[in-house]
Amino acid sequence: MAPFEAPTTKLVDLNQKSLFLSACAIAFNPLFWNVVARQEYHNKLLTKLFGGRSQAACYGLALTIFSLGIVRDFLYERALRHQPSYPLLELDEVKYVAYALIAVGNILVVSSTWMLGITGTFLGDYFGILMDDIVTGFPFNITDAPMYNGSTCSFLGTALLYGKPAGILLTAWVFVVYQIALKYENPFTAGIYAKRERERAAAKKAGKKSQ
Ligand SMILES: *[C@@H]1O[C@H](CO)[C@@H](O)[C@H](O)[C@H]1NC(C)=O
Ligand SMILES: *[C@@H]1O[C@H](CO)[C@@H](O)[C@H](O)[C@H]1NC(C)=O
Repeated sequence: MAPFEAPTTKLVDLNQKSLFLSACAIAFNPLFWNVVARQEYHNKLLTKLFGGRSQAACYGLALTIFSLGIVRDFLYERALRHQPSYPLLELDEVKYVAYALIAVGNILVVSSTWMLGITGTFLGDYFGILMDDIVTGFPFNITDAPMYNGSTCSFLGTALLYGKPAGILLTAWVFVVYQIALKYENPFTAGIYAKRERERAAAKKAGKKSQ
């Protein structure tokens, strides 16, 4: 019997195609919704596709994004199943942290959707469906990006639940992708709302003049 076992187990198996497929799905989703939403904003692409009905078009996009999310999660879990486990990550304590992260992630995502509604969550601003006021209640009083933060938590929690270092690597990728998405999205949506404020101010002025 050998006194030591050779450390043959790798942390991450880069030879698994499922790992790269998962990484692609993670990057594809925000890329997809940003490209499509900007096409909607500039050219009314989806509204035209839905016969001029912006609300229906936004619901269509919401359903598409939601479905893409399910595919992405499926590919992520499949990628994890193909990856080696790490003994330290298989401790019970890690499982508790994992469940806590998944719970926090889901609370952030669900409460955010609850507060914003479907069109507020799924890029309604790009369709001209603006929120009346900035939402400041929970979860927006603890983070500006509860959807992205919550999703990141869920990815990490799942990685720990499976005990897979590859999942932590993919979560780091999720984090990077979301940081880029936020940098791209935030100034644009801020611009949409700034434009409305200018229009409101102008309307107010015109209203005063006509009195
Ligand atoms: C955020 O809002 C919730 C509910 O409105 C409240 O219970 C919580 O204490 C607030 N958190 C912070 C950090 O303000
Ligand atoms: C949470 O969201 C903020 C933006 O509001 C971002 O700067 C931060 O990096 C995010 N954290 C995680 C863990 O995703």
